[in-house]
Amino acid sequence: MARESFTITDGEAWVVLDSRGSETIEVTLYSGKVSATASAPSGKSRGSREAVPFPEGGAKQSVKIFTDSLRGRLVGRDPADQTGIDTLLKEVDGSENFSKIGGNLAYAVSACSVKLAAMLMQKPIWRHMADLSGLAPVYPIPLGNVLGGGAHAGEGAPDIQEFLVFPRRVRSVEEAVKVNVEVHRRLGKVLAKKVGGYGGGKGDEGAYAPPVDDEKALQAVKEASERLDVGFGLDVAASSLYDAYQKKYHYRNRGKHLTREQHMQHISELVERYGISYVEDPFEETDVEGFAELCRAFPKLLVCGDDLVVTRAELIRWASEKRAVRAVILKPNQVGTITDTVEAAKEAEKRGIVRVVSHRSGETCDSFLTHLAIGLGGKFIKAGVAGGERVAKANELLRIWYKAGGSISLQEADVI
Ligand code: PGA
Ligand code: ZN
Repeated sequence: MARESFTITDGEAWVVLDSRGSETIEVTLYSGKVSATASAPSGKSRGSREAVPFPEGGAKQSVKIFTDSLRGRLVGRDPADQTGIDTLLKEVDGSENFSKIGGNLAYAVSACSVKLAAMLMQKPIWRHMADLSGLAPVYPIPLGNVLGGGAHAGEGAPDIQEFLVFPRRVRSVEEAVKVNVEVHRRLGKVLAKKVGGYGGGKGDEGAYAPPVDDEKALQAVKEASERLDVGFGLDVAASSLYDAYQKKYHYRNRGKHLTREQHMQHISELVERYGISYVEDPFEETDVEGFAELCRAFPKLLVCGDDLVVTRAELIRWASEKRAVRAVILKPNQVGTITDTVEAAKEAEKRGIVRVVSHRSGETCDSFLTHLAIGLGGKFIKAGVAGGERVAKANELLRIWYKAGGSISLQEADVI
């Protein structure tokens, strides 16, 4: 039976602020009296192959483009026809990377259309997302940044961008969410005791940003996790450390430039010494061979590509053929549309690659990401632990758990 068709009757876009206070885009689409709103996050350690977040002229220019040309072309379209909406966005843009209208505008319209269609069909958003992707919905494991440095924090903080934790075995979403919060809470106390003069300052994602090196950071995270069943992860965000001119990794905190081999050694030692299960972007974004070497060195380590594959199906295929990744980050505004994010998720699924659906360092309180993670069958949702815009995603996961309970299956952290 053909499904009922719906119509977008109007739309609005405006400039709002993200968690860093930077301008971003929010879009509302209407179908008669029913409306949905979505906003776009922004990254700071962005991959060079990502969609361009804003056109020349910034978020205001995206609003102008929406009002002058996109709105008129959206009116009359069916929001449940996701490929139709996303194709229209590409047509109006006309570039390879959304440089004309901005990837953030494209993403906000695309996500808003998913939300509006779900409301009109009277389905939960995660259910509509799963129907669009054809992937089995699951509750993802929260992967949370508890301590950070790199591009997300000021001077003196660790060189590695993110120190992550995740619950290994849980029986409920409530338990899973609480474990990461507990580590974060204890970590505050551990750092206050250990790091003289540190007042508890945090980085862009609500993770502690103390003046310590990578090794001390890991020791503190480990101490805060005692007697809790948690796994450990790193997001090296190695492109941010890389000095392309010298072809070396610049560790500011340690005051050292490391060669590729020394860098590999440093990461390998941390993995071994601290029993780390997950390492994101261990090498700069063009060094796919470095990723592959780390995979060979640690046969079970979840080596994850973020800047390496930027949510693009063809780059996931390439990295998989090179045996360079066992997990990939999915950040929808890296690629601009939900349809392309679904393609990336399906490519990963086909190749047995773990999907990690992720926030950006600049976020809004929009909780669509949680629905996306469930509907793309994400093993992990990487959404931070502390701060209103991070908790918004965890709270949505809790709400869905309270409503849908066991009708969605719980992921197992069957990693080392
Ligand atoms: P972002 O980085 O600043 O680009 O959002 C987050 C990440 O590297 O995972
Ligand atoms: Zn990353």
